[in-house]
This record gives sequence, structure tokens and C-alpha cells, in this order.
Amino acid sequence: MNKKTLFSGIQPTGEIHIGNYLGALKNWVNLQSQYNCIYSVVDLHAITIYYDPAKYQETILNTAMDLLAIGINPKKSILFVQSQVPQHTELCWLFNSLVPIAELERMTQFKDKAAEHKENINAGLFDYPVLQAADILLYKTAMVPVGQDQLQHLELTNTVVKKFNNKFGKYFEEIKPIINEGARIMSLTNPEKKMSKSLGPNNYIALNDAPEIIRKKIMSAVTDTGPAGAAMSAGVKNLFDLLKLFGATAAYEKLMSAYDNKTLKYAELKSELAETVIVQLKPIQEKRKKLENNKKQVIKILANGAVQAEKIAQKNMAEIKQKMGLL
Ligand code: TRP
Repeated sequence: MNKKTLFSGIQPTGEIHIGNYLGALKNWVNLQSQYNCIYSVVDLHAITIYYDPAKYQETILNTAMDLLAIGINPKKSILFVQSQVPQHTELCWLFNSLVPIAELERMTQFKDKAAEHKENINAGLFDYPVLQAADILLYKTAMVPVGQDQLQHLELTNTVVKKFNNKFGKYFEEIKPIINEGARIMSLTNPEKKMSKSLGPNNYIALNDAPEIIRKKIMSAVTDTGPAGAAMSAGVKNLFDLLKLFGATAAYEKLMSAYDNKTLKYAELKSELAETVIVQLKPIQEKRKKLENNKKQVIKILANGAVQAEKIAQKNMAEIKQKMGLL
């Protein structure tokens, strides 16, 4: 059976939270049975904003350990660090000659990040989507699971596909996004906004938060925002969504009918959710601890992943260069 190739990347920018997990990463785990999955810790993308070089190797390793802990299986999938496969940057350069500047200037993520990091609007930040197109197309990928916010980058990737094929002859297939619908987790302290590290530690639950931290954060989650008597508030809805997504269906039904009867105490909902999250994260945290105690093995897994990825990359790169008249 010829499985299709799937690629996705995650930036090593610090702790992974349950918003990342439920919104995207849990799906990465499930997709492993259907596709040839290639997952990358995209360290070259993350250097386009501020980072600490002295801690960067540790951050990259932590991200990889989180992925392994949630169930990315190196026996089934390729897991590697982007900068260990030099063809990513090489292909990025080749694609640079195909992408109009005007297309990059339209990218909302570039505009947002440029506004957020005014003191550091570097050429890498501008070129970020071209490196992403290179990540994807280097493996002749068919499917790309991403969040809604990445759709524009995938459209740009398909622009590269068209331009390349027109100019050099058909080689790449159009890629298809896989969007995880309905798992948009909101901030605990500011439930009108998406859960995000940039809003501070109390607005998210990290995969590695200890039980007492999880309890504290959930018990102090904002519930009643918006006018009294209105439909369910964003905060309460978010807690219910989390309960369901973490699999506590029976508790969800029971508490939801209490809500409908107006007998629900938010403290009850919160403590039910906190205990659910603690139980669900426990196996991930235990696996993570084991990996933490065996970092050498993690480094080996990543090195082996890079070898596997580079094998495919080398073959495709030679074909691409031939098409472009570079070989
Ligand atoms: N830009 C993506 C993000 O911020 C990360 C990423 C880099 C990526 N390269 C990729 C995602 C290739 C999918 C495919 O989430």
C-alpha cells in the first residue's frame, strides 16, 4: 500500500500547552496510522524572532521530548530537527527566485509579527513562508495538518507548486491542508482570546504542569464575561469544551444539564475539569519524565530521523536541481 506523505512542523518556542495539544498535536498522533508522517522541530523558523542561543538546544530538545511524550512514534514516523537537514535552506533559496515579493508582503503572519517585533523585522521573518514551502515540498508532501492561521502559508506553498511546474515542468502536486475543526481552545484568563503563551502562564495549562498548578489555574479561570443573562459565556463554554475534548463525556452531559437547569456551580465544573486534565496528562507526563532521564536516546532518535529525512531530501533535491538546470 502506498501511503501519502504528510508533513508538519512545530517551532521550538518553549512550553507546549493544551491548546496546542488539542488543537493540532493530538491529531498528529492519530494521523500516523494513515500517512507516512514527517514531523519536524523547525528551529530555523524560530530564529526569525527573539531567542536565547545559550538555551536553544535545550528548548529544541524539550519540544522533541514533548512530541515523543504525546505519542509521536519514531518507529512509525520521521521526527527530526529542521536544521539537521540542510536541504531545507537550500530549497528555500531556490524557491526564493519563484516567489514575488508582493505575495510575501500580503502575509498576515508577517504583518502581525512585524508589528509585534518592530525592533527586529529581519529578512528571515519576511522569507519565513518560503522556508515553510521548502519544508513541505522537499518531501513531495500531499497533506499538511495545520491550524487555521497557517492556511495563507499553505496557499503560498501552492503558488510555488504552480510557478515551479509552469516554469520547469510538472513535478510537485498541490498540497492539501488538514484543519482540526472545533478545537479552538481559549485562554483561561481572557476567554475571548485564543490560548497562547504570549498572554502569560496563567492563561494556559502546559503539558508538563504539575497537578497543583493545573488545579490552581483552572479554579481561577474566568467564567462570567459578557452581559448577565446572555448566552453561555466564552469562559464557561471553553471549560465545557475542554471537558469534552479530554474525554469526560458523562461528566460533560451531567454538568451541561445542570447548566441548562441553572443549578450548575462553576466550582463543580472547574474541579471536575481539573481532575480530568490531571488524569489525562498523567501518562504524557510520566513518559516525558522517562525521556528526560534518557536524553541521549532522544538525541539518537532525532539524529536517526534526520538521516531518514535527508535520504528523501537528497533524492528529491537532485531531481529539483535537474529540472531547474542546476545539475
Ligand atoms: N509556521 C508553522 C507554525 O507556526 C510551523 C511550520 C514550519 C510548519 N514549517 C512548516 C507547519 C511546514 C506545517 C508545515 O505553526
